[in-house]
Amino acid sequence: MSTRLTDLPLEPIETASRDELQALQLQRLKWSLDHAYQHSPVYRRKFDEAGVHPEDLKSLADLARFPFTTKQDLRDNYPFGMFAVPQDQVARIHASSGTTGKPTVVGYTLRDIDTWATVMARSIRASGARRGDKVHISYGYGLFTGGLGAHYGVEKAGLTAIPFGGGQTERQVQLIQDFRPEIIMVTPSYMLAIADEFERQGLDPAASSLQVGIFGAEPWTPEMRVAIERRMGISAVDIYGLSEVMGPGVANECAETKDGPTIWEDHFYPEIIDPNTGEVLPDGSFGELVFTSLSKEALPIVRYRTRDLTRLLPGTARPAFRRMEKITGRSDDMMIIRGVNVFPSQIEELILKHAELAPHYQCVLGKEGHLDTLTVRVECAHGVEPDTVRQARDTLMHEIKAYIGVTVALEILPSGGVERSVGKARRIVDQRPR
Ligand code: DLL
Repeated sequence: MSTRLTDLPLEPIETASRDELQALQLQRLKWSLDHAYQHSPVYRRKFDEAGVHPEDLKSLADLARFPFTTKQDLRDNYPFGMFAVPQDQVARIHASSGTTGKPTVVGYTLRDIDTWATVMARSIRASGARRGDKVHISYGYGLFTGGLGAHYGVEKAGLTAIPFGGGQTERQVQLIQDFRPEIIMVTPSYMLAIADEFERQGLDPAASSLQVGIFGAEPWTPEMRVAIERRMGISAVDIYGLSEVMGPGVANECAETKDGPTIWEDHFYPEIIDPNTGEVLPDGSFGELVFTSLSKEALPIVRYRTRDLTRLLPGTARPAFRRMEKITGRSDDMMIIRGVNVFPSQIEELILKHAELAPHYQCVLGKEGHLDTLTVRVECAHGVEPDTVRQARDTLMHEIKAYIGVTVALEILPSGGVERSVGKARRIVDQRPR
């Protein structure tokens, strides 16, 4: 797939020097900490308890003295307890459902919505959007930040939004055929389901009008990128974000390099910490990603522990802005099987080596006596029968043992046999008795 680059103008900050960017970060960070301290009693208490005051921040490195914020803080102050503006200034609410308990609720002022639209527009341009493009949005609309986040960004970039949302896969294909969008924004797992539907209708997905896919909201491996690019005949770029920090558009890959999402550091300040000790690690070290918002009004977020595991890398296509290595796992998704740490993405990488298998899979956790067991459920590629893939099955089991170090059971299902989601795929099914 040849590189498709934007012909739309960049913002001045995108070509600023690292020094200019850091000066802006320091100025904004001072504002953000002060805003949180002055207007959110929760932050005031947390800072006081930690014995720090916004005025203690003299350099960017001083941020390490401030306390972390976790999902639990948001839950404890459900729904609006951490907001730092009066209700009449909150223009919008979003929430992320999570798998257990109460959702995490986030709020935006009108200015926050505009900032978000700006970083989303920047992300869409970085992905290779060109003047006149139509963008098919299959991220869910509603409380999830995916749909509306993408939507405002497309409009702000001066492109045409097609607000389809998730689901109705048959109609997604029909409208892609009829409206001929150049870009699609969707979770990578749902992209595969749409590709399947193209084929079911006798259409070649690679022959569609789509040229660029902006994929995120869930981990996906480099191997998955290759598979989707080949199958769809598109350029696939990675978009990262989380509701607590803003939504999609915290970071986005640049089409020029496709070397991990560029972090829009003028609005979101990243750190990498050791997840066990909380110590800040130097750039290049692997650990947990932490973000501090630099401009957000309604819900300032200070040192939010994302639980996403990655490392910070130097800027390339936007030299002043650091990148993050493509995220292949979050600490919540780490399975521990007989002492070995396993991420679904490691399994995905190995599945994708086998043409007879489709990259639709789930990791099912069970128990045998006191020991956890892992069964990998994976389906056959289109037109392949489960009993003809014995060879692939044995090889895959062997590879999982050799490369990851765990013995797993493999359940090979016919094409279409693994549960499909229209948003984030459910990769881990925990069937261990409580
Ligand atoms: O998933 C926001 C989003 C929407 C991002 C659409 C990209 C596209 P949440 O529902 O709050 O927000 O989930 C955030 O999803 O902490 C990561 O664990 C995971 N995640 C998001 N993007 C990526 C990505 C949205 N590109 C959580 N790669 C985050 C890997 C991702 N994981």
